Order: sequence, then C-alpha cells, then structure tokens
Amino acid sequence: MLQGKKVLIGITGSIAAYKTPLLIRLLIKEGAEVQVILTENARDFVTPLTISTLSNRPALTYPFNKTDGTWNSHVEMGIWADLMIVAPASAATLSKMASGMADNLLVTTYLSAKCPVFFAPAMDLDMFNHPSTGENVERLINRGNKLIEPQVGELASGLIGAGRMEEPESILKIIKDHFSRNLSLTGKNILITAGPTYESIDPVRFIGNFSSGLMGYSLAEEAANRGATVTLISGPTHLSTKHSSITKIDIVSATEMYNATIEAFNSSDITIMSAAVADFTPDKIAKEKIKKQDNPKMIRLKPTLDILSWLGKQKKPEQILVGFALETQNEVDNAIKKLNNKNLDLIVLNSLRDKGAGFGVSTNKIKILDKNQNQFDFELKTKPEVAVDIIDKITELI
Ligand code: CTP
Repeated sequence: MLQGKKVLIGITGSIAAYKTPLLIRLLIKEGAEVQVILTENARDFVTPLTISTLSNRPALTYPFNKTDGTWNSHVEMGIWADLMIVAPASAATLSKMASGMADNLLVTTYLSAKCPVFFAPAMDLDMFNHPSTGENVERLINRGNKLIEPQVGELASGLIGAGRMEEPESILKIIKDHFSRNLSLTGKNILITAGPTYESIDPVRFIGNFSSGLMGYSLAEEAANRGATVTLISGPTHLSTKHSSITKIDIVSATEMYNATIEAFNSSDITIMSAAVADFTPDKIAKEKIKKQDNPKMIRLKPTLDILSWLGKQKKPEQILVGFALETQNEVDNAIKKLNNKNLDLIVLNSLRDKGAGFGVSTNKIKILDKNQNQFDFELKTKPEVAVDIIDKITELI
C-alpha cells in the first residue's frame, strides 16, 4: 500500500519522540521512503544515528551541512513529499506552525510542503489544555492540517490526562487510510464554488453576506488530496490555497460566478455549489458614490440567475451535482424541495438553529439528503472534517 510513497517526518522535542523510530520502521517495512527532520531539541530525545539507520537517509536538523556547505533544501523536500507528519508535535512547534515562524528546518519545510500535513501533539495535559495550544491546534485544523488526537493516559510527568502521542501502529493505520482514500478521486474533475458574492450598489458599497468560504475551500482541499483536479470558483474571501491540483478563479458578483461556473461545468464530473450566491442584485449600479444628500429611500433589486438550477437542467446523467441549503425553519422539507427542483444528487443541509453551524464559524453541523429520501446526520465538526464526510458521501455515488 505504501510502496514508493514519500513520507516526511518531523520530530520535535518531546519525550514521545522515543516512539517515532518505531513509526519509521513500520513505514519502511510497508515500502515507504522516509525522510526525517529533527529539531535541535528532538536530538536530546532520539539520536540522529538511530533515525538515519532506520530511515536509510541522513537525519536532518540544519538548513546547511556545516562541514561541506551543502544545502538541505526545505523547498525541495516540501515538493518531494506525498505526506508530511509532525510526530510528536510539541507545544512550541505547534505555535511556530500556526504562526508561520520559520526559524528551523522543520518549520521552513512545513511552510513549503505542498502535500497533506498531519500532526500528532504530545505534551503534558496542562500544556495541551492551555487556551493558546487549543487556538494553535484549531488554526492548523482550519488550514487543512490533520490532527492526530493525543490519547488520554498516564503522562511522563505522572499526571493522567490527554497528551500522550498516538501509538505508532495507529498512526500507520491513519497514514494507510489516507493513501487508500487518496486514490478515490484520481482522474476526476471537480468544480467547487465557495464564499459569498458581492453585489455592487455604487463604487464603494455592496450587498453581501457572512460566508467565509471555509466550507468550500475545505472541500476543494479534501477533493484535491484524494487525487481530483479541482476548479475552485471563489467569491471574495481572506482564504488562499496552495494545493497544486486546485485552480482558483476569483469572482466578485453572482453574474461573474454564473459565467465562470457554466464555462467550467461541461468538463466537470462532480460539481459542488457551496457558495452563498446572492439571490438579488441592485437593478442599477450608481456610477458615482451615492451622497447622503441624495437621500435614497430604497434600492431597487432584481433577481440573479439561480446557477444551481441552471446546472441541474444541463446536467448529463453521469455528472454528479451537489447543492447546499442554509435554512432557518422547515429545514428538511425545504432541502428536499431544493434537491428535487434543482435536480440534485445530494443536498447538504445546515440549519442556523444548530449552534456552531452555518456562516462565519469554523465548525458546521450538517445533514446530507439524497435522491432516494435517505438522510444522513453528522455531529458538529470542524469544516475540514465536515468536508471529509461530504466527499466520502459523494465518493459512494461514483
Ligand atoms: N444558488 C445558486 N445560485 C443562486 C442562489 C443559490 O446556485 N443565485 C445555490 C447555492 O450555492 C446553494 C443552493 O443554490 O447550493 C441553495 O441556496 P439557497 O440560498 O439556500 O437557496 P435558494 O434556492 O436561493 O432558495 P432560498 O434563498 O429561497 O432559500
């Protein structure tokens, strides 16, 4: 399963570093190529000799080899890897990864990595429970990094709680699951829309909505991680993606999203409309800024084109079309109506009555409905985790 897979392992200064040589051994036995980077502090816990012997490659710590001046290129390693895992991830390294502080070879390589990144925290329970650690973990998850949750048990300090690094055998299983899922969308073109649209009123004002785009970006990352070629049509957001299989097209208004979407739709195997497209747009955009003394009493609106309905009408039988429904009442009935009226294969329902669901939050609670009236309920999860559930459901349809 892991034959020829290139795995980059980062080891940081935590007592759990003693477990990582076993992980390296397991990966090598499965046929993976393993390159290890140790932080300076990690070398106090495991020796570079142990690591290089097990991995068949030099164990790296510094950007330059001080004896012969050769460069250990973080950029090349970032491109080389199919997967990066930081195990154990200490509180200090989590903080550096979350803030982008690039002061060692491990973090510069992390910043250069184009592959999925897993991290397995290991630290004492009070450090793990500290709000700053929690915020760093959340930031990393929200950027698409995958948390390998620490286990509850006796810690090196003698205290009992969450903070033990996951066992090497379990980490191996997570890596294998990742690669087997990874193949499922190879060769598929996936079109995803994300974020809000802005409808201009005049040169300085617009009608918009609170969509952050995180759900759509998480879907794009997840689909790309499983081998798909993704076209991401994005409304205005603060998000970015560096995945080499994602082509991002930036749009602003509903009309621009319509034009970009219909152009990409023909060659798309799977289309996911997660954007919060405006249903109405100002009838006229004022050429100049509307002044207070103009005393405008109302803005006349006209409907936008419903992109999803248009796609539903054009869709060929082999194309899969997925819509979103954000509802505040009669949620399931409204979602079923949208599923049928727009000729969808699946609809993802968020109810604003569920705490932590919907716009502008990093979590979501969804229900997925299919054409055969099946309903699938999911727990409140981070949006990248929700993306895994949605892509899993879509993959079942292929
Ligand atoms: N959608 C679209 N084009 C629009 C409006 C919505 O493609 N002009 C898509 C959204 O991306 C989403 C789905 O339609 O996948 C449902 O959007 P939603 O706003 O919940 O539903 P509407 O059909 O617009 O109905 P209503 O606003 O009345 O609930």
